[in-house]
Amino acid sequence: MEKITIDWNDYLKTAREAVSQGVVLLENNGALPLSEGCTVALFGRMQDHYYKSGTGSGGMVNVSKVWSIADGLEEGGVRLNAALRDAYAAWEKDNPIEAGVGWGGEPWSQREMPLSDELAVKAAAGSDCAVCIIARTAGEEQDQSDEGGSYRLTETELDMLKTVRRHFDRMTVLLNVGGIIDMSFVREVRADAVMYVWQGGMVGGLGTADVLTGRVSPSGKLSDTIARSASDYPSAPYFGNTKRNFYSEDIYVGYRYFETFAKDKVLYPFGFGLSYTKFDIKTASHMNGDSVSLDAVVRNIGGCSGREVVQVYYEAPQGKLGKPLRALCAYAKTATLAPNEQQTLHFDIAVNDMASFDDSGVTGNADCWVLERGRYLLYVGSDVRSAEKAIELDIGETTVVSRLSEACAPVEPFERLRPESDGAGFRAAFEPVPLARVDMCERRAAALPPEIPQTGDRGIRLCDVLNRRNGMEDFIAQLSDEDLSCIIRGEGMGSPKVTPGTAAAFGGVTDSLSRFGIPCGCCDDGPSGMRLDCGTKAFSLPNGTLLACMFDTELMQRLFSLAGVEIAANNVECLLGPGMNIHRHPLNGRNFEYFSEDPYLTGTCAAAQLKGLHSSGVEGTIKHFCGNNQETGRHVVDSIISKRALREIYLKGFEIAVKQGGARSVMTTYGSVNGLWTAGSYDLCTVVLRDEWGFDGFVMTDWWADINERGMPQNRSNFAQMARAQNDVYMTCPDSSVNTCGDNTLSSLAAGTLTRGELQRNAANICRFVMNTYAMKRLCGSMPEIEILNRPAEDEPIEELQVEFSVLENTLSIPLDHVKVERGGQFVFGLDVRNIGIFNVTVTAKSNASATAQMPITLFTTGFPSGVFTFSGTGGEWRSISHTANMYSRFITCRLSFAQGGLEIKDIRFEFVKGV
Ligand code: BGC
Repeated sequence: MEKITIDWNDYLKTAREAVSQGVVLLENNGALPLSEGCTVALFGRMQDHYYKSGTGSGGMVNVSKVWSIADGLEEGGVRLNAALRDAYAAWEKDNPIEAGVGWGGEPWSQREMPLSDELAVKAAAGSDCAVCIIARTAGEEQDQSDEGGSYRLTETELDMLKTVRRHFDRMTVLLNVGGIIDMSFVREVRADAVMYVWQGGMVGGLGTADVLTGRVSPSGKLSDTIARSASDYPSAPYFGNTKRNFYSEDIYVGYRYFETFAKDKVLYPFGFGLSYTKFDIKTASHMNGDSVSLDAVVRNIGGCSGREVVQVYYEAPQGKLGKPLRALCAYAKTATLAPNEQQTLHFDIAVNDMASFDDSGVTGNADCWVLERGRYLLYVGSDVRSAEKAIELDIGETTVVSRLSEACAPVEPFERLRPESDGAGFRAAFEPVPLARVDMCERRAAALPPEIPQTGDRGIRLCDVLNRRNGMEDFIAQLSDEDLSCIIRGEGMGSPKVTPGTAAAFGGVTDSLSRFGIPCGCCDDGPSGMRLDCGTKAFSLPNGTLLACMFDTELMQRLFSLAGVEIAANNVECLLGPGMNIHRHPLNGRNFEYFSEDPYLTGTCAAAQLKGLHSSGVEGTIKHFCGNNQETGRHVVDSIISKRALREIYLKGFEIAVKQGGARSVMTTYGSVNGLWTAGSYDLCTVVLRDEWGFDGFVMTDWWADINERGMPQNRSNFAQMARAQNDVYMTCPDSSVNTCGDNTLSSLAAGTLTRGELQRNAANICRFVMNTYAMKRLCGSMPEIEILNRPAEDEPIEELQVEFSVLENTLSIPLDHVKVERGGQFVFGLDVRNIGIFNVTVTAKSNASATAQMPITLFTTGFPSGVFTFSGTGGEWRSISHTANMYSRFITCRLSFAQGGLEIKDIRFEFVKGV
């Protein structure tokens, strides 16, 4: 039997290395690295509450330990001013962390401790330098706002920095944030060093400290441009609109905009990041057939070892289309170079990769990637602004690189930005966007897949297809219409058919389907580690922004290959990540999950993650396909985007992930693009993804997504439109065998508006996918043995979770007298909810503790807190506390988490209040 072994310590070490490679140093006036043996005064109330990630599905990894920056510094031998630490701890007693309630309910930041001059003076007397921490979170359902406590600092935070400045000669500011924030404070407080440490997962504090102490020289580079203010980003006038969001800035996103139109608005350019050493980059290049062959010789000319990132940008001629002045086309990172050491990085850049998408036909080639005639320039350097010209090439004739079909075109007229020369540079001009000419319905009707005549069960099992004894067609022919309607229903969340606490089951979700030997595959969030809602501990990875800032695909792949083994060990087939939407605006709450404002960096990061996961036998799900660039109104907003901006910016990363990363699982979005909710978009899921890019995997919706037909309102039951589009699986149905939420698959089949051939094609996509996963190997008894060495006992899964499900119709009482209430303890149980809706939940307990004791019990349902039952001493009498909670899934894994001991607990009762 095959055996896969990883060492947990190697996993921790690799993630720590990733953090040290991804933090970005923006200012350094000699304050860093910290000098050996120094005492640091650590300011900021979050010093012991490091944000390991943002919030929502991408942040709900249960970990046994998160190393804060304070932990990391202490581990690195740095002394922390103890009196100051005590002052923060004392303040915290009366000012505990505010957790917030429910989905998207966590505050973006925590109230800062007001810092007095007196305390700062005392701290300065006993320390050599100051390190101040500013921390932010955000996430699903929760964009940032351009206000104090969110994108900007609060008055108290700013006062803290100013007070520290008055009393310390050396002051470093660390930003423990998901994405970029307003940086005007840097000039205001004249900080000596400023570093984005992002959200580095459970080892974030350790990797950060490696850079602070100088064990590692910083080499992270910004994956976004930092402008003077949030309103400087070209999408600012549209971002946050909840109805129609016009992408009028078109392809001029991030540095493409700033370098072309508004250089003076940039505080820190894309690709920028300081090091403790210095590098010299010399380039030599020549044409080699259809490619530019480029060597960058990087020499360390400073005083300590370090790594450098070489970035290659191109400038295409303005031509008829108009172009940004810079676009990233390649990057690579050196090994660690000792002083005076050098390394040559080699690049081959295909000229075709500098093509633009002509969506109007202005070059005479509508819907083609074209190289317009004229001069092309390549720039090489260590950020977009300072990159220097390396080579020029002339293209004599406009040439078509590839001819595609019109897809996903806007139907609503609007104007988009384009550069217009004003002699010295470019100013903003606007032009009308080309609109749709092709009818997607006619296109689908003209390409209907043939129906496979149904045969009934001929005894062919999926393993026969795998072993090539039978073809997929013969297998699919056996499925009844009922089977076909069930296989497109993903089941969850928390389906008992797969690993407890995960997001969904797909494939063999009914008895009938499983009789055909179709295994149940399992999906789990994603992207920064495994979200296991029943409390199972998992590894929490650095966030997407940090990982992109590494500019290191080799390390990315190595890290995700380790993550892949952990995922496989939990019997999960698909991680619901990488998240790869574009950082169109810095206020997007989910930017922490995504990589960058640049599609090439986004695509190459995703491809590296996928290769890592694949090397361990599991799949990543690239999401959200596409245009999910804000959380505000994400279910209802229509993103109105030109074909060119889609091709060059919003689809480009996905294209790279499919073509270079071999993606085989895709998640569409909640929202709509050009009037069509993506889950029902034939153009997106069939024409672009499969016909053009050659994708042969399966596509799932986002959880409880809406679907529509052109001009029709959105709804959650139009599975027929989803199936026609070749979005293969609806995520999620409470029970795949009946789908109590209702869908129109069989009625549409009967009415002839959906064909059997289309459903059979969905079924084949799903079966082809699941057949090549560990789920199939488990079914066939050929699953490799997975061994994780040195995993600390507290990280081990809660006894492989034999979660016991109780049926909840109208009322249910679960006795808990056998449960021991201890600090940090938990009790996990499952509910099979027959009446989906709102329930009254009552916990009954007693205690002999004092009347002012606080003993909270938190009820988590599918991973997020849905009620805190705080008991005090009850004088030994039973007392009941009630809250209402939403029970919106059929199968719900619940967890009671105990913050204190001292309680005796009797039972938990559920009473139905109303349905939904
Ligand atoms: C998110 C997805 C996530 C899914 C399952 C949705 O709310 O948008 O990114 O994978 O939930 O948790």
